[in-house]
Amino acid sequence: MKVLVTGGAGFLGSNLADRLLARGDEVVVIDNFETARRDNLSPHDRLTLIEGSIADTDLVGRSFDEHAPEVVVHAAASYKDPDNWYGDALTNVVGTVNVVRAAERHKVRRLIYFQTALGYGLRPLEQPITLSHPMQPGGSSYAISKTAAEEYIFLSNLDFISFRLANAYGPRNISGPLPTFFQRLTTGKPCFVMDTRRDFIYVSDLVDVVAAAVDGRGRRGPYHISSGRDFSIQELFDATVKALGIHLDHDVEVRPRNPDDVATILLDPSQTEDDFDWRVGTPLDVGVSATVDYYRTHGIDQTYTHLRSLGGKD
Ligand SMILES: NC(=O)c1ccc[n+]([C@@H]2O[C@H](COP(=O)([O-])OP(=O)(O)OC[C@H]3O[C@@H](n4cnc5c(N)ncnc54)[C@H](O)[C@@H]3O)[C@@H](O)[C@H]2O)c1
Repeated sequence: MKVLVTGGAGFLGSNLADRLLARGDEVVVIDNFETARRDNLSPHDRLTLIEGSIADTDLVGRSFDEHAPEVVVHAAASYKDPDNWYGDALTNVVGTVNVVRAAERHKVRRLIYFQTALGYGLRPLEQPITLSHPMQPGGSSYAISKTAAEEYIFLSNLDFISFRLANAYGPRNISGPLPTFFQRLTTGKPCFVMDTRRDFIYVSDLVDVVAAAVDGRGRRGPYHISSGRDFSIQELFDATVKALGIHLDHDVEVRPRNPDDVATILLDPSQTEDDFDWRVGTPLDVGVSATVDYYRTHGIDQTYTHLRSLGGKD
């Protein structure tokens, strides 16, 4: 199988690329390294890396012409500056349109997308959130542009799956609270946690579903990939402290959430569990421990967030 992975040098994309290469697939990555680490991808004779932006229509067209992918996994996204609406719109909307149109022209078997649970809005109407919950992405440039992109995918004539995700974590994850906790705890800086809850999913559990979707499992439309359990950020912090094997002599400070932050994100994974015959396999403390091992060996140069202010800044 030949699979084109946009954003394939990033956290999810590179973990998926590793899985596909390990099972014998050919992988073509397009990435501009905006939020990727160079060492996420190792050279491989079945891996082609195209360095450039999906917003470049010619580059996307040429990449499809040259490599004729059978399946496209569209993981590239812009989110690191909440005020860069232009950058978010360019990558997430125009970039997606480029990828979708090229995929249609080349009659790819399937396109797989990753939508953010923030598309359900800052005040979801139900918990757990079901797939029929309306999209209401206002309040975040990232969510607005990712939701517009998902709408273009719905509009296409492609066989697609849009995986809606809450919070994925694991080796190579450099956004969200876990890398920040690691950085601060290992440099003796004080920490605080936000008074929020999130549905954390370990990357290899997520890749299990995506790899099955690459093979044709699942039906056209949206799915959730989630643990179906919401953990408090404090639980994540405690798991990080445990994985580091340190002892803190005081409780971590708990702060009220920011206005652009959601109190709880809990996604209903039942459709995915049924259609993919899949269950989350990695307990939080096991996943956090593996992630901390990764940070220990690789270090963290930079963390990113789509939120206006991240718990963990000095
Ligand atoms: N990680 C999560 O918890 C989560 C949650 C919801 C949705 N998602 C979605 O999953 C996908 C993967 O996210 P991730 O967590 O791996 O983040 P990531 O930042 O590690 O990956 C995104 C990749 O896209 C690349 N990129 C950015 N702009 C580009 C452009 N114009 N052209 C080509 N490449 C570009 C980045 O360099 C990076 O490698 C994204 O679409 C994201 O919106 C992730």
